[in-house]
Amino acid sequence: MNTVANTDLQALEKDLLHRIAAAADETALEAERVAALGKKGAVSELLKGLGAMTPDERKVMGPALNGLKDRINQAIAARREVLKEAELVRRLEEERVDVTLPVRPSGLETGRIHPVSQVIDEITAIFADLGFAIAEGPDIESDYYNFTALNFPEGHPAREMHDTFFFNPKEDGSRMLLRTHTSPVQIRTMETETPPIRVVIPGRTYRFDSDQTHTPMFHQIEGLVLDEESTIGTLKWVLEEFCKAFFEVDRINMRFRPSFFPFTEPSMEVDIQCDRSGSEVRFGTGDDWMEILGCGMVHPNVIRYGGLDPDKVQGFAWGMGIDRIAMLKYGMPDLRAFFDADVRWLNHYGFRPLDLPSLARGLSS
Ligand code: DAH
Repeated sequence: MNTVANTDLQALEKDLLHRIAAAADETALEAERVAALGKKGAVSELLKGLGAMTPDERKVMGPALNGLKDRINQAIAARREVLKEAELVRRLEEERVDVTLPVRPSGLETGRIHPVSQVIDEITAIFADLGFAIAEGPDIESDYYNFTALNFPEGHPAREMHDTFFFNPKEDGSRMLLRTHTSPVQIRTMETETPPIRVVIPGRTYRFDSDQTHTPMFHQIEGLVLDEESTIGTLKWVLEEFCKAFFEVDRINMRFRPSFFPFTEPSMEVDIQCDRSGSEVRFGTGDDWMEILGCGMVHPNVIRYGGLDPDKVQGFAWGMGIDRIAMLKYGMPDLRAFFDADVRWLNHYGFRPLDLPSLARGLSS
């Protein structure tokens, strides 16, 4: 007897429908489909039996089994729709975007340029406008470039004044050092360029010194002009133009005081007039003077050390601390904070990355 009792079919259908309804996801549902309608599925197996039935039996069992198969198919399709819908709802919930949240600012919005970098950009923009090129040299220098070629005689006390950081001696007894000023790049420039030379040299410098107004690493900018006719008059004009542009004032009063540096003759220190009576320093007025740089006519010995002929070329040089004039210009009270890498400080005093200083647009506005 190949027929299946009606009650057995009903029980099978009930069981299959129950399992389909219970399938928790599409994978489970597919497993139920295979178990019922796949090659070896329960319903498929029953359908295979039709061939062996008598025509009368087939007349009854054919429609019964095909009906079962259709209803199971429909139940699976319906369940699949429900599961798809539920999955969509779940994903919408999970991938929900709160469009009311503020947009997260890009790196360009949040990054800040350190005031020292900004001030170097400002100063080089001013000198570029005056026709100067930029030169650089190594932080680790030889005694020759840092002292000897700058006309510091061996054993001269000026060498001790620089509180130099020395490296351990090499086998030949010589010691490298961290440059104490940017002046050695004067020599390196003379060695590689032919006059007329007009360069500014920004960079890091190092001295064994640390208190409220000194850090062991600090920044300087050096200037060097060598040609056939530059004089102290040219030097004064260049520095005055620079100060007016940098401090963004129409008028500035400068005071040149005689001084001594081994690499210049004559040597001078320059003060600018300022007013410190208020909460911030103002330039171009007032009855105070503030020292900002050292300068002078390049010493003939230095020109000779640089490989040039002091009877043919002459010129001037100056050296200026960057950190202190940055403090002055932007009202930053403590030098040490420059090198603390405190993001809050940088957010407050730093500059927006696209605010490149240019003379045409105004330096700091
Ligand atoms: N190198 C000097 C220093 O660090 C500054 C200086 C003074 C540089 C006079 C110069 C100059 O080029 O002419 O104290």
